[in-house]
Amino acid sequence: MQRIILVGYMGSGKTTVGRQLAKALGLQFYDLDWYIEMRFHKRVPEIFAEKGEEGFRDLERRMLHEVAEFENIVLSCGGGTPCFFDNMDYMNSLDGDTVYLRCDPKVLAQHLGMGRTERPLIKGKSPQELEQYIRESLHQREPFYLKAKHVLDVSLMDNYDKINITIDLLRKAIGQ
Ligand code: S3P
Repeated sequence: MQRIILVGYMGSGKTTVGRQLAKALGLQFYDLDWYIEMRFHKRVPEIFAEKGEEGFRDLERRMLHEVAEFENIVLSCGGGTPCFFDNMDYMNSLDGDTVYLRCDPKVLAQHLGMGRTERPLIKGKSPQELEQYIRESLHQREPFYLKAKHVLDVSLMDNYDKINITIDLLRKAIGQ
């Protein structure tokens, strides 16, 4: 039985890496945001708009408990998932591996500046405001991320060619 859970800041590549890792290992891939959107037939920004962040976090916790129980999966969490309730301890208590994809704030700002996904927490920020926000919130969030069983630096994974290197490093880290 295998269960690999990826955590890390928005824009660190959790979804891209998770999808490729699942493919390489022959596991089912889940992205928690997508799972939430599928279960509730609503996009994440709509849920934020209707229920506020608090409402989203409750729902996110419930869905985490649903999907993380599945076996033989790679699960990519949302950037905030490990930082609310006892979510990170819960993930670590499951049979499997938790991995923090660590990434430099400058690189995160670049990825998020280019990204097409609508993210309510950073909507409308200028590049300077974005980098400042990332630095501050990463500082608050990192203690949670660092509880993961493995930490992998992905700051240099700035293009798709390098994803294979990342997948190899990740497989080494988790002994697969
Ligand atoms: C969030 C990250 C998003 C999504 C929501 C909140 C966060 O997921 O869950 O917008 O608090 O960092 P990604 O990390 O996949 O962008």
